[in-house]
Amino acid sequence: MLQDSFGRVATDLRVSLTDRCNLRCSYCMPPEGLEWLPNPELLTADEIVRLVTIGVERLGITEVRYTGGEPLLRRELVDIVTRTTALVPTPQVSLTTNGIGLSRMAGSLAVAGLHRVNVSLDTLDRETFKKLAHRDRLADVLAGLEAAHASGLRPVKVNTVLMRGINDHEAVPLLRYCLEREYELRFIEQMPLDAQHGWRRENMITADEILARLQAAFDLTDADPVERGSAPAELFLVEGGPARVGVIGSVTRPFCGACDRVRLTADGQIRNCLFATDESDLRSAMRSGASDDEIVERWRSAVRIKKAGHGIDDPTFLQPSRPMSAIGG
Ligand code: 5AD
Ligand code: SF4
Repeated sequence: MLQDSFGRVATDLRVSLTDRCNLRCSYCMPPEGLEWLPNPELLTADEIVRLVTIGVERLGITEVRYTGGEPLLRRELVDIVTRTTALVPTPQVSLTTNGIGLSRMAGSLAVAGLHRVNVSLDTLDRETFKKLAHRDRLADVLAGLEAAHASGLRPVKVNTVLMRGINDHEAVPLLRYCLEREYELRFIEQMPLDAQHGWRRENMITADEILARLQAAFDLTDADPVERGSAPAELFLVEGGPARVGVIGSVTRPFCGACDRVRLTADGQIRNCLFATDESDLRSAMRSGASDDEIVERWRSAVRIKKAGHGIDDPTFLQPSRPMSAIGG
């Protein structure tokens, strides 16, 4: 087991497959992009599968989520998913993607055994999309969502980050859009994870504000709170259900006390938290011939020292030195 000093057990592994991306969402990257990791520093597909296998077979990982950057840009994605879903005990395998290219890939990912996808969608307006993501790709994202649904990847989840003065008037239309198509929408409070350090608390649309906007148009009732478990989303039934909407108050309603996650970056570092300031280097260990036992021990130590919480609201808070695209969402 991967247990920390507060008794939390990490069972959910998030693996970044690349730090590259074909969008430039302003809460993540500057328009000009970032200096990407040099190829030799990226884990190979075999190295990724080796670590995931150790996580699942020896360390109690039951859920594996592939993220990025944009994981669909990783050529070996289908192969990696196929090898992950073949593990015993079989983990839940999911993908967090911006949806570009999903219309082409959803079918083969479903065949590879992928269970679920989360697609980022912050706006339904082409001009706003261009402003927010610095690329004219809204149509590709919407087509990707449709393909995921058609391929039977259920539930199709949608992640939305609202930003003041940019897309915060779209909470209700986005929910309508998702309800009509059976997508499950989650609003996420914007976190200080952008490479350009542009996060300002006052520009963040809080969970309270999100709920107020939704409640003006929909009847929302608390879905059974016992269901929440370690899931960060507070779930609400829309108009009595069964449709649901989630609100993830990462900053104003932190869920660190129930966190069950651990992250592996694209260059093979274990991070025990999105906001961790330390990493543990499994890539160098592997490349200098570490045995599975040695990897297990390093990984356990990395999780053991996990801090109690992210402390974004604390005056001494320091933004992590790596942006979301390098850490994995
Ligand atoms: N704050 C909140 N959510 C973010 N994401 C990326 N950057 C941030 C941020 N700064 C979300 C994306 C995507 C997932 C990987 O994380 O919207 O859905
Ligand atoms: Fe790319 Fe995701 Fe970052 Fe947007 S949030 S730029 S889709 S990695």
